[in-house]
Amino acid sequence: MTGAVKIDIIGAGSLGLLLAGKLICSGTSIRLWCRSDEQCAALSETGLTISHIDGRQPIIIPGSEIEAVPIREFSQRYPETPGDWLVLTVKQGVLHRILPELLGPLRETNLNLLCLQNGWGHMELLQKLLPAASLYAAVTTEGAKRESPVRVVHAGGGQTSIGLWGGGETVRNNVAVRLADTLISAGFSVLLSNEVNTMIFRKLVINAVINPLTAIWRIPNGELLCTDLRVRMMRELYEEAAAVYDACGISHEDSLWDDILEVCRATSGNHSSMLADVLSSRETEIRWINGSLVAMAERAGVDAAAHRWVIRMVEGMFVKER
Ligand code: PAF
Repeated sequence: MTGAVKIDIIGAGSLGLLLAGKLICSGTSIRLWCRSDEQCAALSETGLTISHIDGRQPIIIPGSEIEAVPIREFSQRYPETPGDWLVLTVKQGVLHRILPELLGPLRETNLNLLCLQNGWGHMELLQKLLPAASLYAAVTTEGAKRESPVRVVHAGGGQTSIGLWGGGETVRNNVAVRLADTLISAGFSVLLSNEVNTMIFRKLVINAVINPLTAIWRIPNGELLCTDLRVRMMRELYEEAAAVYDACGISHEDSLWDDILEVCRATSGNHSSMLADVLSSRETEIRWINGSLVAMAERAGVDAAAHRWVIRMVEGMFVKER
């Protein structure tokens, strides 16, 4: 890989727009694959605005600097002009629904893929779809909220940890180091980790505790800490998840409960991604977050009743055609 890094981002939701906008500003070549033609047209005409919750001047990227392409053209256009990295910022549901067909033609291609999903299940699917690819998982606590197809609010700087999936050295891996440097130059705080599973399992519990409760009660993350009852419910979900991990032989640190409380404090004014989905009547990721814990519990023969309940509560909010 020589010259400037070229990155393809699939998914122009909150995180996709934030990454694309900040990377374009730092001079990285970005091609943004959008699910709707209307969003592509709007980005090319109006440009992209990133506003900041702390009142700093918004960043405005003119449409002429944005290469937004409809995802339906991916299979035809991407293989002809692949970039150095493919970054997936679509939600788990979309990933499971559209990626098998979309990525089919790349089965034998040796590409670098970075996945920024919450939950568990996507990496195994991608490994099956792209056996020749180098897969990297990332977990991030960046706070981003999409206000419109061309506007995103950076609701709080977080930390993004990246690790090579399937084991192996990430910290001294040149390709990963170069990506991390690119993201750091764009203003993100990035850590490379050789402990990718630990990193994903830790985030899974954080999401499994914060996301469903904030979605059910429709409150920002910080308000989870406002009453004893809410904290007790959080604790119950946490203890059940910890027991599932113990039964499955998955190690977790004693500090995890304190980490969950700290995430609530650090992101106190933010809406969790699940609450944002519920408020926009979008499908949530509960099946891949709490649902993964329930599936692990079932395999290990232990109970995960609280996680099963929150799944029903969140899924029951949507009226599906029978
Ligand atoms: O999904 C989310 O919203 C985030 O991962 C987190 C860390 C819970 C903060 O809102």
